[in-house]
Amino acid sequence: MSEAITPWVHIVAVAVWLGPQFFMFLVTVPAVRVIEDPEVRLRVMRVIVTRFGWLAWAAMAVIVLSGVSNLFQEADEFGHLWDTEYRYFQIFSTKMVLVGLMVILTALHTFVIGPKQLRLLEEMRSDSTEAAGLRRVSIIVSSLTLLVSIATVYAGALLANHDYSFQLV
Ligand code: HEM
Repeated sequence: MSEAITPWVHIVAVAVWLGPQFFMFLVTVPAVRVIEDPEVRLRVMRVIVTRFGWLAWAAMAVIVLSGVSNLFQEADEFGHLWDTEYRYFQIFSTKMVLVGLMVILTALHTFVIGPKQLRLLEEMRSDSTEAAGLRRVSIIVSSLTLLVSIATVYAGALLANHDYSFQLV
């Protein structure tokens, strides 16, 4: 029973990571665009972006910690975790590359693109061509983050399917 704890924490954290990304795309951003007063829009956007950022990075920290714990647990059950001839190693390596990509894309959005967008909003230049270009980059980066996150979940599901992942390549 206790072995279920870290996979459970891992899955809950993945849900907290992924759910708000969908919500942001499909609900929050379209809703904020409806606000006509630029000052109110800026204030609302600032609260959303700050809280969304904290939530995402906190979820990522829990995902990484519970993922490492999952790994120790799997090592007890399966002795070929680091054996390149087994599917488990290949899927896990691919998953780690995807996780790295996700972290880079999220950092780009949190620390570079997002603050620049807020600055333009602050300077009331959200209708400028610069703002339009930045919005396009922002949409591309968040879409990529979402796609890479979904691919990582697939890699996790493949890993957890031991009938498949514990086989030789
Ligand atoms: C450093 C980061 C991570 C590590 C070390 C890690 C490690 C692991 C391990 C060892 C498992 C168990 C596989 C098994 O049962 O054999 C697992 C499962 C899983 N992981 Fe990760 N993971 C990480 C990040 C992520 C991320 C970022 C996502 C998704 C956004 C994710 C999604 C999943 C899913 C959906 C499962 C399947 C849950 C299950 O049924 O056990 N993981 N992970």
